[in-house]
Amino acid sequence: MLTIKTGPFNDQKPGTSGLRKKVTRFQTPGYLENFVQSIFDVAEDLRGGTLVLGGDGRYYNDVAIQTILSIAAANGVAKSIVGQGGLFSTPAISNIIRKYKAQGGIVLSASHNPGGPNGDFGIKFNGQNGGPASEAMTNAIFETSKIITHYKTLQAEDIDLSELGIFTLGDMVVEIIDPVKDYAELMESLFDFAAIKDWTADNHSLCFDAMHAITGPYAKAILKDTLGAPDKALMNCTPLPDFGGHHPDPNPIYAKDLFDKMMLPDGPDFGAASDGDGDRNIILGRGGFVSPSDSVAVLAANAHLVPAYKAGLTGVARSMPTSAALDRVAQKLGIAHFETPTGWKFFGNLLDAGRISLCGEESAGTSSDHVREKDGLWAVLMWLNILAVRRQSVKEIMLAHWQEYGRNFYARHDYEAVETEKANAVMAHLRAQVSDLAGKGFGSEVVKFADSFTYHDPIDGSVSENQGLRVGFESGSRFVMRLSGTGTVGATLRLYIERYVQGPAGLEEDHTAVLEPILQIAKEISDIEALTGREHASLVT
Ligand code: G1P
Ligand code: ZN
Repeated sequence: MLTIKTGPFNDQKPGTSGLRKKVTRFQTPGYLENFVQSIFDVAEDLRGGTLVLGGDGRYYNDVAIQTILSIAAANGVAKSIVGQGGLFSTPAISNIIRKYKAQGGIVLSASHNPGGPNGDFGIKFNGQNGGPASEAMTNAIFETSKIITHYKTLQAEDIDLSELGIFTLGDMVVEIIDPVKDYAELMESLFDFAAIKDWTADNHSLCFDAMHAITGPYAKAILKDTLGAPDKALMNCTPLPDFGGHHPDPNPIYAKDLFDKMMLPDGPDFGAASDGDGDRNIILGRGGFVSPSDSVAVLAANAHLVPAYKAGLTGVARSMPTSAALDRVAQKLGIAHFETPTGWKFFGNLLDAGRISLCGEESAGTSSDHVREKDGLWAVLMWLNILAVRRQSVKEIMLAHWQEYGRNFYARHDYEAVETEKANAVMAHLRAQVSDLAGKGFGSEVVKFADSFTYHDPIDGSVSENQGLRVGFESGSRFVMRLSGTGTVGATLRLYIERYVQGPAGLEEDHTAVLEPILQIAKEISDIEALTGREHASLVT
């Protein structure tokens, strides 16, 4: 065992989803090691315990796994469970931690960010509930990484990650397991696979785009081998270290081929895509996609049709910038609904306490209490199970939903790679106004409330401040502005626009035109154009 001196690194404040940086940054000697040692210093029960390890297969995944295994062995971890080839989707890791009662897991991914030697890499620690580490733990790891001067490692040959089996590294056992099997079993325990098979056999077609990322092998095993979808239903299902040069982000820009296919008059009945590490999902029907905020609301409204949730949901939660469509369903069902800050970790306590059984974020993340991560393929299977029972098209289901609950039109405007000072200036300008916006009129809208969102965790009492600025109107419309915690270049400002329309509101409605008045008010109040020098967002989803 070696103890190697390393300097502290000061730029490592992990964002909403762990530490994400350029691959080249992670290749700086000591950088990855510093962060990993900090994890072992903070998560003390890993000593003598079990660690789960794997990632989305992006460039540097294999190198990082060997580095982490050596540090784990030197830090007294008794056993590491690693996915074959170093692969695990994020929800699969969450399941493995829970199923095998591990003390924690390390997830290697930069989610939907691009991969390759010039792309991004990321690392995140999940605790024994299978979910992302709490704010307190994330902060402790960050503080440790700023002051540690040494890391421990074991000098040994690399472990061959391609072989299933049990190996040793110093005193640590390394078990290489099939990354798909346990996850596929979990899915089979939740859904009515027979009904989905019947639906597929009954002349319905589906299309799933894995975007050359981790869900490829999971989709092949579940959608094709088990549920009988034909080969042509699977797009880009071979994982590649650079995702074929694309961003593994399931939006209309990066999953264009899938979106184009779904717009064809004779396109598939159902389409879906997942992101780099398999935790996000986008759902499409023939002729259009389902906004993620609507998707979680539809899943909640129909969950009783799915075996795992037939007894009903205990409660639901959404991140603050996610539209209020889910709240309307909860009100009708008479169950609790919670509003948490952005980031999956904030759902963990509510799920562990049994207060909620389903939750989601506007950023294409949805999941339930079956794991402690968002879960892309789970959402796909939820939709397929609902389609198989209701025997209606995606479009019919959406129209019926809006008819019943009203429609929350929604869009997110991202201003990416803005100079940090300019982004901070926009936030400061808006923050300075929120306390006296209430009661003010803008066109036909009157501000009902405006604040900086603070979350009081109802389970552990912790308080998270500065989680985004929100301005709500009497009409139920709203805008929210916050700084991204996952960007790797400059700062990303996210502006979320929502407008509620009661009664029938069809797919044909001009979404952009409906939201335009609120967008203009948001621009006026925040002065985002003048302060950033940008006339438009760089990405609207
Ligand atoms: C983004 C999303 C957020 C999600 C996170 C991790 O974070 O907005 O909902 O939990 O990625 O996937 P942000 O960049 O906005 O901080
Ligand atoms: Zn992801």
